[in-house]
Amino acid sequence: MVTILVGGQWGDEGKGKMVSYLCKNDRPDIIAKAGVGPNAGHTVIYQGKRYPLRLTPSGFLLEKARLLIGAGVLVNPDVLLEEIKNLGIQKRIGVDMRCGIIEKEHIERDKKSDHLAGKIGSTGTGCGPANIDRANRSLKQAQDIEALKPYLTDVPHEINDAIKRGKDVFIECSQGFGLSLFYGTYPFVTSKDTNAGMACVDVGIGPKKIKDVIVVFKSFPSRVGAGPFPTMISEKEAKRLGIQEFGTVTGRPRRAGTFDFEMARYSTMINSASQIAVTCVDYFDKESRGVKEYERLSSKVRAFIDEVEKKVEVPVTLISTGPDLEDTIDLRKEKL
Ligand code: IMP
Ligand code: MG
Repeated sequence: MVTILVGGQWGDEGKGKMVSYLCKNDRPDIIAKAGVGPNAGHTVIYQGKRYPLRLTPSGFLLEKARLLIGAGVLVNPDVLLEEIKNLGIQKRIGVDMRCGIIEKEHIERDKKSDHLAGKIGSTGTGCGPANIDRANRSLKQAQDIEALKPYLTDVPHEINDAIKRGKDVFIECSQGFGLSLFYGTYPFVTSKDTNAGMACVDVGIGPKKIKDVIVVFKSFPSRVGAGPFPTMISEKEAKRLGIQEFGTVTGRPRRAGTFDFEMARYSTMINSASQIAVTCVDYFDKESRGVKEYERLSSKVRAFIDEVEKKVEVPVTLISTGPDLEDTIDLRKEKL
């Protein structure tokens, strides 16, 4: 069975936390990473320990799982090798031999570009210029890099074989719908599509293989970098609500806003989402923080969840009430 988890807003919806919860709980055999590359930063917090990740699948805490990086994902070998060493995942990570490679020159081009770093507000991680070179067919691939040799694999083969044998596969995306090169707020987007369909391409499986698509929405969405944000609130208001955040990769302050139901409907449609995960409900009120039963959530939060279900017309099956992966309400048994 294959599940895809995708961001429904502008990234930073809390996907890392949701993935780590789901993997620990559901124990998939393979956890595969889709998405753009090391422009993403996922934070996993488990039993008080913080794991900031950029290329390693966020489900790595599940010790038995095979971890894979799909061919569509850009790899910065320095970033990946450092994470492999720090997390001790040498024996179970696989990198598709066709992953595109980010080199120093791409990072320089990204940071120096008035258009990318200036106008668009890119993360400066070299992803845009690397994807430009990929479209130009001049980008190096993982199989060209000596230091990646021990990890090279054919990700589509591994995943499709596992599916055939009845195993469970979890695919985690990065960024979010609003940053899609095709459907996001162009030109203020990333260098690739970011939706569930793209995730299938990234890891090399066909759309008929997918059982579930979980779209993640943050109660108060955020956005880093430039671009439209129709429901944005002021920095002062965000501070007053105590919901101000800073980027994991860039350290830049994130703009915050209220929930955009129209955007949620649209991204749910494009992703053919079968379930919704709502994160950061503790941003509504402190009393909902760390709550593990639905009935204990404040009436304000429950009214919000009802409104999401009514307007988006897809069940909210998962609710995150805090940053630790154990701060989760799982309603899948009741609602599916
Ligand atoms: P790039 O992907 O570095 O080229 O940046 C393009 C735009 O996407 C900028 O607005 C970035 O802030 C945004 N972006 C890229 N990756 C992420 C992410 O993982 N979370 C949030 N924003 C992102
Ligand atoms: Mg992030």
